[in-house]
Amino acid sequence: MNHKEVIESVRKQFQTDSDPFPKTNDEIEALRNKYLGRKGIIADLFAKMNDIEAGSRPEFGKELNLLKNDISNSFSNYVTTTKNNPIQEIDHSLPGWIYNTGHLHPLQITLNEIKTIFTNLGFSVAYGPEIDDDFHNFSALNFPPEHPARDMQDTFFIENDIVMRTHTSNVQVHLMEEQEPPLRYIVPGRVFRNESISFKSYCLFHQIEGLYVDKNVSFAEHKGVLEYFVRQMFGVNTKMRFRPSFFPFTEPSAEVDIWSEKRGQWLEIMGSGMVDPEVFRSVKIDSEVWNGYAFGMGVERICMLKYDIDDIRLLYQGDLRFLEQF
Ligand code: PHE
Repeated sequence: MNHKEVIESVRKQFQTDSDPFPKTNDEIEALRNKYLGRKGIIADLFAKMNDIEAGSRPEFGKELNLLKNDISNSFSNYVTTTKNNPIQEIDHSLPGWIYNTGHLHPLQITLNEIKTIFTNLGFSVAYGPEIDDDFHNFSALNFPPEHPARDMQDTFFIENDIVMRTHTSNVQVHLMEEQEPPLRYIVPGRVFRNESISFKSYCLFHQIEGLYVDKNVSFAEHKGVLEYFVRQMFGVNTKMRFRPSFFPFTEPSAEVDIWSEKRGQWLEIMGSGMVDPEVFRSVKIDSEVWNGYAFGMGVERICMLKYDIDDIRLLYQGDLRFLEQF
């Protein structure tokens, strides 16, 4: 036999030995050893290289390597396609797995909706710190030193001068410190208040702040924007009113109420007003040149009104019976 015939006969022999392919691990190992083992047929042929006429050695080596690869491939193919693959054992008549699809939390749905309405009007989205100093959360917003919000009863203090922000209005101050007007931002974020937890209040909730600073901004424009928001959010026929109110950082100030047919009463949805010149002064913006408006709304409150949820705690309990309704 010349070397080609030798290799072909080993190939044939392996085909016979591996058809059918052995089933048990021991049988498979035995077959592997017979061909690929240290004293196996292939190793034996490699050892015989020296007996072969020098001119034919390279070709013999090449053929022998091919054979070795083919044989070891047939082991790995068998293992991956058959042995470790449970597909062959699957009963195709069984029903498949049912995977639950995830979805957005009602608060996130509400937040996204509010964001879309304002970004369509040209507002950008900004964020600010949840832990802030007294200046940004209170002083710059014209809270007097003895204001009740500065009390431990109402506010979580980290240190003497550092608080968990009680509203997103702190970001108004950051934005005006860092950027030149005109400014047109909404600021979503978490806020914290030291309140006892009940169906209507939680120690943590979300607000969306709005801030618009430009030249000759009118209260009428401010009203127009918020009216547009309410119509988009709650429907074009929603009845709303601006009720005079007070915030240290806006003058004049108003609270926005919408009429609930179902409950037969006005419900407050946000605070708003024209930026107080005192606030401009603390961020060194010239209030003779610039003016503007600000507003702030609670995302939970809007979400609860929109979806008729009567207990704020439901939004924080992760109960699937509740969440799956959205
Ligand atoms: N920061 C106020 C609050 O938490 C809301 C507000 C924001 C009012 C901006 C007026 C202007 O109640």
